[in-house]
Amino acid sequence: MNIFPTARPRRLRNNSTIRRLVRETTLSPADFIYPLFVVHGQGVRREIASMPGQYQLSVDRLAVEAEEIAALGIPAVILFGVPAAKDAVGSENFAAGGIVQQATRAIKAAAPDLLVITDVCLCEYTEHGHCGLVNTPGAEWYDPHRPEGYVLNDPTLEILGRVAVRHAEAGADMVAPSGMLDGMVAAIRASLDEAGYSGLPILSYAVKYASGFYGPFRDAAEGAPKFGDRRSHQMDPANAREALREAEQDIAEGADIIMVKPALPYLDIIRRVRERTAAPVAAYNVSGEYSMVKAAAARGWLDEHAVALECLTAIKRAGADMILTYWAKEAARWIGEQL
Ligand code: PBG
Repeated sequence: MNIFPTARPRRLRNNSTIRRLVRETTLSPADFIYPLFVVHGQGVRREIASMPGQYQLSVDRLAVEAEEIAALGIPAVILFGVPAAKDAVGSENFAAGGIVQQATRAIKAAAPDLLVITDVCLCEYTEHGHCGLVNTPGAEWYDPHRPEGYVLNDPTLEILGRVAVRHAEAGADMVAPSGMLDGMVAAIRASLDEAGYSGLPILSYAVKYASGFYGPFRDAAEGAPKFGDRRSHQMDPANAREALREAEQDIAEGADIIMVKPALPYLDIIRRVRERTAAPVAAYNVSGEYSMVKAAAARGWLDEHAVALECLTAIKRAGADMILTYWAKEAARWIGEQL
């Protein structure tokens, strides 16, 4: 007599061909968006200490980089700029010759089909490292009803709109506001439409948590807050329902793609946003998620190749249509080798 139940799940796991046939989630280089950090200077390719394998690149280094990324089948990059100088309003952000504007032109010239998405925020450009104008007595945006040092919402929106238009003028294919300010999508949509860019999509960092996992990025983009933190605008990690409100509101304001960030500690959020909305969902596999695996792998504690692909597969399985990841280039190569 057969003591086993008739179902033997192992029948479908016995070899790699059959596993491939029944696989529910597959990764493709087409799922990835690769973040790039651009800096002023000539011939700069400076490795970021806390993010091994990631570099700050000067504009003249971008053509080769863009061609490599495009050749790997990765459809898009997202640009973060490190300005030459910082001030209270982040002037370089909306200067015609700003670093991201230069980088966008260089990439579009070298690899016209590679999509350029630009991060739209103030934190890398302001001297205090905050994502908006900071309440300061005497400043023209001073609000006596808010505490000193508060990141002001409405006066910042006009600047975000201006930055988005500058990026569009430089040839950006999509803009990605990351500051978690109320009304940022509506403000940017209105500014873009007014300037004639009604066809330019917005990828909103709609559901962005106040996370400790951004630590290494703040070295890479040189945008750490000089005082305080981001908890008055980024979400509390304890909240899930609020993520749905943020996503719905951004869609109502005109967001074309909704991002959840970070990814791995928030797979439940990716899933819930996926189920609630029909809009494409992006997930940001952030710097800390990358660096902790790199650090463990450097000690021989983890197999980076296996763990990275497992992480990316989990993010996609949770419901992400696309993943912003520092592993994009390596993962594209690993996926190619598997086939
Ligand atoms: C802000 C921004 C941050 C990241 C992307 N855009 C940092 C922050 O909010 O402090 C983090 C990305 C990462 O950690 O990889 N412009």
